[in-house]
Amino acid sequence: MGATISRRFLLSSTLASSISSLLELDMMGQSQSAPQGPSQLLVISSGNGIKAVEKAMAILKAGGSTLDAVVEGVVLVEDDPEDDGVGYGGLPNADGEVELDASVMYGPTGAAGAVGALRYIRNPSRLARLVMERTNRVFLVGEGALQFALAHGFHKEDLLTEKSRQRWLQWKEELSDKDDWVAPPKKEISQKPERPQGTINCLAIDAQGDISGVTSTSGIAFKMPGRVGDSPIIGAGLYVDNKVGAAGSTGNGEANIRVVGAHTVVEFMRQGMAPEPACLETLRRVVNLYKGNPPNLSFYALNKKREFAAASLFKGAKYCVHDGTRAMIRPCAWLLEKK
Ligand code: GLY
Repeated sequence: MGATISRRFLLSSTLASSISSLLELDMMGQSQSAPQGPSQLLVISSGNGIKAVEKAMAILKAGGSTLDAVVEGVVLVEDDPEDDGVGYGGLPNADGEVELDASVMYGPTGAAGAVGALRYIRNPSRLARLVMERTNRVFLVGEGALQFALAHGFHKEDLLTEKSRQRWLQWKEELSDKDDWVAPPKKEISQKPERPQGTINCLAIDAQGDISGVTSTSGIAFKMPGRVGDSPIIGAGLYVDNKVGAAGSTGNGEANIRVVGAHTVVEFMRQGMAPEPACLETLRRVVNLYKGNPPNLSFYALNKKREFAAASLFKGAKYCVHDGTRAMIRPCAWLLEKK
């Protein structure tokens, strides 16, 4: 895959990068300053989270905590059968089983909870919250996570929708001409097989400056059974430090785990970087690791001053923000452009 490099990637110093970013954002009519509304409430999410930021903001305005806001915002997307990268309707693993991952962090206590390779439970974000609140542990996976969910009264259900089953079957049948599965006649193939990597990340800060975050995913489509990506890895798919800010990710989990991305973004912000250069600097580490041929990855971040940003390795990604007055979809900053 060929790629061109954005002007801001060529500027190596943090200061130069910040100036370049601001210029480009100004040209697009963007801003990443604190909310203009009187509430000082702010929620951001990945581009599939417009309903999540609206729900989260409604909860904050009603006096709910940032943890209630981000978890219940993300639950809306986990429940949506049309989002094939999260919760119910998420694309399954190579065996046709939906396996979900999620993490949560609550800034005021620094507490964290996560679940991985979870089957039959549509809301892994709620379960991750329970791991955080009702155990002495941080991370439960597989059968143990399922048993914990059932102990708390979660409902076991088949998470594979008819649409997701059809996508999986097409992938399975077209995988190889050396196995026993035969591809359907060409006229029946409605779309090119692909392996999407949908995820939602949602971060919120309230009027007291308390911050929480959630990341939830069904992982890369048709993954190896048992594969866990970055989303439930505290420090990779999500990190919250109530004194500094929060960050989360979507995209290629393996690339992100290798740079411990969300924690790296937060540490850059602790050193004084604004959210956008902090995200871009972390993405540069991925580019360097992959020596010019990186998979796509995006970061979302907000800081204690309520500045916020999102940046993607490749041009074209979007993110959502609610500043207390309205929900908006905005373009992410980026480093590389696919030719
Ligand atoms: N970022 C989601 C995953 O890699 O599973």
